[in-house]
Amino acid sequence: MLYFDNNATTRVDPLVVEAMLPYLGELYGNPSSGCRLGKLAANAIERAREQVAALLGCEPREIVFTSGGTESINAAIGSALQLNPGRRQVVTTAVEHSAMLKPCEALEKQGYTIDRVAVDTEGRFDTSDFDHKLTPETALVSVMAANNETGVLFPIQDLAEIARERGVFFHSDAVQAAGKIPIRAGEMGITYMSVSSHKLHGPKGVGALYLNRRSAFHPLLLGGGQENGRRAGTQNVPGIVGFGKAAELALQSLEREATQVKALRDTFENGVLERISGVQVNGNRTERLPNTSSLAFEGVEAESVLLLLERAQICASAGSACMSGSLHPSHVLRAMGFSNARSRSTLRFSFSRFNTAEEIAKALELLPGIIAKARAVH
Ligand SMILES: Cc1ncc(COP(=O)(O)O)c(C=O)c1O
Repeated sequence: MLYFDNNATTRVDPLVVEAMLPYLGELYGNPSSGCRLGKLAANAIERAREQVAALLGCEPREIVFTSGGTESINAAIGSALQLNPGRRQVVTTAVEHSAMLKPCEALEKQGYTIDRVAVDTEGRFDTSDFDHKLTPETALVSVMAANNETGVLFPIQDLAEIARERGVFFHSDAVQAAGKIPIRAGEMGITYMSVSSHKLHGPKGVGALYLNRRSAFHPLLLGGGQENGRRAGTQNVPGIVGFGKAAELALQSLEREATQVKALRDTFENGVLERISGVQVNGNRTERLPNTSSLAFEGVEAESVLLLLERAQICASAGSACMSGSLHPSHVLRAMGFSNARSRSTLRFSFSRFNTAEEIAKALELLPGIIAKARAVH
């Protein structure tokens, strides 16, 4: 299997599995319990907190473990709104993940105003559309660090500064950016940042919310006093241990992402552009994650190409994974001004450190025939 769908999820690194195993076996203690097994679990969580903090460039006490990116994002929104009860507006972008879009739609139904900043045809954040959207009513600004479909990066450092000057909470969904590009959350003056373990070769169902130590926080889940009263519920110890190990490995691999993974992506993308006519790259080609390639193949339906790829043992995706199976064109490509036809003909290839040059060569050998076949039946 040639696995080129790493923005959907990643292979769990074998070293992560190894780190987790004891906590699925003999080390089953409850981290809140005072007995020896409990203390071992609590220590393991604190070690993971240090590892995740190192990846995000912040202090361990600024990390709260959650069940993943979706929960972290919902917690950040909920906290900002609870702490600013008089403010009824949220500023975000038109191209966020559904974990941000859907809560915003729900808020709209409750009478909140949601302002969605536009992107240009290359998927870049339109800063000129941002400044004037901030008002005394703004409770939260939430802008993703990198887009999951195109990989395009957003200037969160600059935006966080503007938000801070105006006294507005700032959240960034860094689920796709963490582990792929350097992040220094602790130095950015942001309030919250969401990350997820399964996008960086860790297990699924675990993530973290970065919480600026100088900011107040209102928890989403109430109950026991776990995570220093910031996220109730017995922690997912094996998951957190795995996430910690994955974060440590991701930090060590950042250089490789910028060189080796990027080189694989560029070889693939340039190879496709050379070998196949009528292909367009979606998104700015430089201000982009090193691992992502979103390509529109004129005259095909992405869904039928995916079936042919599947038969050839190649795994990619059409737009974002959450979209596949549904007939809706990608909201990201639509926001970039593309037609439904371009959106429906788009495939996303996303690579990781587990991909090899041989795999890229094999895919480049197979893809022209697959696209020709899909075009013939279209
Ligand atoms: C940009 C972005 N945000 C949030 C999420 C949701 O993260 P999780 O799957 O950990 O809930 C994803 C996952 O696809 C994502 O790509």
